[in-house]
Amino acid sequence: MTLGEFRARFPIFTRRVYVNSCSQGALSIDVDQAMRAYLDSWHEQGSPWEMWVEQVECLRARFAVSIGAATDEIAVMPSASAGINAIASALTFDGPRSHVVIGDFEFPTMAQVWLAQERRGASIRRAHASGDTLPLDAYGAVIDERTLIVPATHVCFRNGHKTDIAGLVNLAHSRGAYVFLDDYQRTGSGPIDVHALGVDFMVTGCLKYLLAASGIGFLYVRRDLIERFEPTVTGWFGRVNPFAFRIDAIDWPSGANRFETGTPPVPNAYAALAGLDLLDRIGYDTVQRQVDRLVDQYAASARDAGFVVRTPAEPERRGPLVVVQSVDAPALVAKLATRGIIASCRGNGLRVSFHAYNTSADVGVVIDALVAESSLLERATAAAR
Ligand SMILES: Cc1ncc(COP(=O)(O)O)c(C=O)c1O
Repeated sequence: MTLGEFRARFPIFTRRVYVNSCSQGALSIDVDQAMRAYLDSWHEQGSPWEMWVEQVECLRARFAVSIGAATDEIAVMPSASAGINAIASALTFDGPRSHVVIGDFEFPTMAQVWLAQERRGASIRRAHASGDTLPLDAYGAVIDERTLIVPATHVCFRNGHKTDIAGLVNLAHSRGAYVFLDDYQRTGSGPIDVHALGVDFMVTGCLKYLLAASGIGFLYVRRDLIERFEPTVTGWFGRVNPFAFRIDAIDWPSGANRFETGTPPVPNAYAALAGLDLLDRIGYDTVQRQVDRLVDQYAASARDAGFVVRTPAEPERRGPLVVVQSVDAPALVAKLATRGIIASCRGNGLRVSFHAYNTSADVGVVIDALVAESSLLERATAAAR
């Protein structure tokens, strides 16, 4: 599939310049059809649970392949938050290791789940950013022999900073701590090999660069760790055989499905499979090349126009999201919408993110609009440029 054929699967581009995949991936014809297929199956067959559960199993296997994992290392979850909670609930904090190291660039849910563990004995330590960078040294200063786990976002939802996860894994493992990757702001925008990266746990979800709907995500747990953990946040789908309907005892499957809880999100699984299918057809390397090209073009053009780009300039320190500082970002997002451009903001940072469906022409339209609305943008000092 070519980039042009890929873009043609997303009808929104006939009406809008869509640069908001960091919030929600664009809707493809394929995902639309998959969701309709789910509804048809419900209409026609009433309650085809066997087939529906089979779709979820198919999704588990397909997602595993897409990140270089084994099928039984994947739990299909209703959200990233649910995946984080499953692991947090399985850990104990009463031994020599009770510290959780949280970096300044985490998505709120990642901090909040671990803050909630303080009642269970966890102690939160912070790795502080300097401005919009979070060097490994900041982690090095706080990870020690008391550290149990280091949850870390790959790409920051607020400023687009990409953390050196391989470096963080080396650092944390050399001090005996686990690394829990939150890949939500990156998965689908390029290839990843979780075994090569060496992370212990990972969560992500389907609604952004995986091009599907909300209400479905994944938890990856490294094979040799799975059977060490028994979550206390659990449910009947976390059992060896949910359909044994036991209420007298609890058992634990040997795979990561032990971290699942209730009835799986079947409609969302249909959507997610269609999203993965599209990404397979174009290929993750092609997606990455296109995203990198557009990110380079947009960041360079924004800098040349004199705007303050908060996302790091080094290519290896950024993902698919570029953030430019506004003086009133909600007003800027509204102005862009009147020009047919869909973007988003966090605080006064304007978020523009790219997927393989975007083009150089999209970048040009956004830059022209920013120049036209430049009274809403912060200007870089000559020295900063
Ligand atoms: C980096 C990151 N982590 C986690 C989440 C939240 O995931 P969920 O709502 O599935 O728990 C988001 C959502 O935007 C995110 O950007």
